[in-house]
Amino acid sequence: MLSLSPALQARLATSLKIGQFEVKSRVLQSPLSGVTDLVFRRLVRRYAPDSMMYTEMVNATGLHYVKELPKIMEVDPAERPISIQLFDCRPDFLAEAAQMAVAEGADTVDINMGCPVNKITKNGGGSSLLRSPELAADIVRSVVAAVKVPVTVKTRIGWSDKEINAVEFAQRMEEAGAQMLTLHGRTRAQGYNGSARWEWIGKVKEVLSIPVIANGDIFSVEAAVRCLEETKADGVMCSRGTLGYPFLVGEVDHFLKTGELREPPTPIERLECAREHLQMLWEYKGDRGIRQARKHMTWYAKGFMGAADLRGKLSVVETLDQGLDILDRAIVLLQEYGNQTVEESIAPALVSAQ
Ligand SMILES: Cc1cc2nc3c(=O)[nH]c(=O)nc-3n(C[C@H](O)[C@H](O)[C@H](O)COP(=O)(O)O)c2cc1C
Repeated sequence: MLSLSPALQARLATSLKIGQFEVKSRVLQSPLSGVTDLVFRRLVRRYAPDSMMYTEMVNATGLHYVKELPKIMEVDPAERPISIQLFDCRPDFLAEAAQMAVAEGADTVDINMGCPVNKITKNGGGSSLLRSPELAADIVRSVVAAVKVPVTVKTRIGWSDKEINAVEFAQRMEEAGAQMLTLHGRTRAQGYNGSARWEWIGKVKEVLSIPVIANGDIFSVEAAVRCLEETKADGVMCSRGTLGYPFLVGEVDHFLKTGELREPPTPIERLECAREHLQMLWEYKGDRGIRQARKHMTWYAKGFMGAADLRGKLSVVETLDQGLDILDRAIVLLQEYGNQTVEESIAPALVSAQ
């Protein structure tokens, strides 16, 4: 039986304080480029209304030259708490972008110092800042001076196994004025491979006074609890576990608050959610939304036999009606055959329904 130690229960009894800003949940939805737009966040928030969410990362240089708000930076006035995440290596551009983020409604501004993608690191942003701690500190100081909301940092444990500097780096970010640090327990060299090394999160937690959020491999309630117990972190951030599963943050939050496991969604409920996600993306982004919805829909279509065939069909959807039709037929088949017995039946039925 999953349970919480008394020490963890005591930690969970208070709200998460990011500077002056209080959050009533210790489970956060990570920033995910190409995923955590306003539509996705709306779905996550339905099950986790107290949780902090993040926009996709926004390029500060882009904002400087374009001077208009990209869609990925849009925030619904009703959605709180919300952080806008920025990336860049220029302290002045980041300060300017942070002011735009606050004007858009950001409760906190987060600086990405963990992205491993070459396109970002070769320009000095993301995880390459782990190798330039002085510049990273300048960035934090510059952004802190520019805005009144708390400034936070999300980073990794180091550039590579030979260059693990999470502890010193985190201390410098705190000294520079960061009000919270999220640590992904992998190096840049690891990308998303191997396991997240939570022990480094524990080491960073030991030396910082600001909240430390643990990130990496939180795919279940059980993993979240284990990570909180092992690292003593102030909160956990869910990432890839939420792809096609906007229920995860809420499931973890519910357990941490009540000690009860929420009933997981059935395959039918997941497909109903996919349907809604598709519809909302189309309303928000038009045809581009349909193309973006393809990957989401395939992520939802999991956990029942015949799902692979369904994913094949969903991955090439061209129009809203086509997507809705495929999902509706799959839902009817699941209702008819039950969640266990669709093995042989749903796949051919889906193909013949083409
Ligand atoms: C598709 C994808 C997009 C991501 N986009 C961002 C991003 O915009 N900003 C960021 O800080 N991290 C981003 N990340 C990293 C995640 O937020 C998270 O740190 C990482 O996936 C580790 O957690 P996990 O093992 O639970 O997935 C992204 C990860 C993935 C897989």
